[in-house]
Amino acid sequence: MSLLLNRNQFGYLANKGKVLTREEANSLFEDWVLNPRLQLHMKQVAHLMKKWAALFEHLDETGQWQWEMAGLLHDADWDQWPEMHCKKIIEELEQRNADPEIIHAIASHGPNHFGVEPITKMDKMLFAFDELSGLIHAYSLMRPGGYNGMELKGVKKRIKEKSFAANVSRDEIDDACRRAGIPLDDLVSFIITHQGEVV
Ligand SMILES: [Fe+2]
Ligand SMILES: [Fe+2]
Repeated sequence: MSLLLNRNQFGYLANKGKVLTREEANSLFEDWVLNPRLQLHMKQVAHLMKKWAALFEHLDETGQWQWEMAGLLHDADWDQWPEMHCKKIIEELEQRNADPEIIHAIASHGPNHFGVEPITKMDKMLFAFDELSGLIHAYSLMRPGGYNGMELKGVKKRIKEKSFAANVSRDEIDDACRRAGIPLDDLVSFIITHQGEVV
């Protein structure tokens, strides 16, 4: 089954700056994503995106929401339409006249699956957080304190242990960090600090 999108243009330039309202995005999220684990993953990635946009990109509230929205909806079609993963949410957001940059970020969240290269900083951070978020969450679940007291070296040990969260490709983690131009240690530390804020 191929998830290749076979295109590189997403959304319409005329829609630049247009976002879904939080209510619209939340109701799409609730209608489409029924699996609680997937819901949590998407909320975690959304939160990381928002925090990064605020703390490192110094974006205003609208800019932060664009990043957050990309995170919140990136896997929206995975639960009910896995064979249409990425394609369906992209088409939905195009119909709803969402900002082309948000749609591009979603379209490039798995370059090896969808065949779309991450270009902007938003694209690259979404790819990087998506790769690391699940593995770090899996680690939190096996620690008595969850995210409390979690250390960088503990996460790095799990990354080296190939059998841990074996579905997470270590090559893709490296690739995502390289593309983002951010050392793995910095990304992991950021996720440790902020991911646990999502409940
Ligand atoms: Fe995905
Ligand atoms: Fe994801």
